[in-house]
Amino acid sequence: MEPQKPVVFLQGVRLYLRPLEVEDAPCATRWINDPDTRRFLGNYQPLNLASERAWIEGMYTSKTDVILAIVLMDGHRYIGNIGLHHIDHLNQTAETGMLIGEADCRGCGYGPEAKELLLRHAFQTLNLWTVRSNTVAGNARSNGSLLKSGYKEVGRMPDRFFREGEWQDEIQWVITRAMWQARQP
Ligand SMILES: CC(C)(COP(=O)(O)OP(=O)(O)OC[C@H]1O[C@@H](n2cnc3c(N)ncnc32)[C@H](O)[C@@H]1OP(=O)(O)O)[C@@H](O)C(=O)NCCC(=O)NCCS
Repeated sequence: MEPQKPVVFLQGVRLYLRPLEVEDAPCATRWINDPDTRRFLGNYQPLNLASERAWIEGMYTSKTDVILAIVLMDGHRYIGNIGLHHIDHLNQTAETGMLIGEADCRGCGYGPEAKELLLRHAFQTLNLWTVRSNTVAGNARSNGSLLKSGYKEVGRMPDRFFREGEWQDEIQWVITRAMWQARQP
């Protein structure tokens, strides 16, 4: 019997994005609880498998969120999640979030490649005009990856996050459709 073909929602060069499934919850639970990962994320409480499953299922009944699994073409390895949140069609805006959960897959440019697919979808399909992102100021890799994707810093909220005994600023980022289009070859 022929192996089943993968489900692909957005196709990239080294990776593709597919709908996130409840079966992905064990990986996502491992990633989101990992101390090295969660120090720059919003969650400070432990999150169990049931809460992760509920979060995934909730995304599909929400009209304001698009959540996708990042999968490498090579071996169809599931390495992270990416999403558009708080989609607001009146003001044509949304917020992006991303997690490359498998630590050995960070620093390989997979984040920016996945982000490019998501931005194309946001601007060319969903007809959004601005896409925003917020980071903890000390998250150098996340800041670097947003710059690489063409976002610009538009603001800072001082002492927005308390992390590992220290106050950290929030950096607010934005990319508009015009900025994104100007970067296209
Ligand atoms: C943040 C994250 C999504 C970035 O994805 P990634 O695939 O690892 O991105 P990359 O490391 O390839 O980064 C792209 C750019 O960031 C820059 N960068 C990477 N690490 C950096 C660092 N420590 N300091 C400064 N810039 C850095 C580089 O300039 C790189 O561009 P280059 O390829 O031209 O050199 C991913 O590392 C991740 O999920 N980390 C853990 C969770 C997290 O912090 N999520 C984001 C919450 S807002």
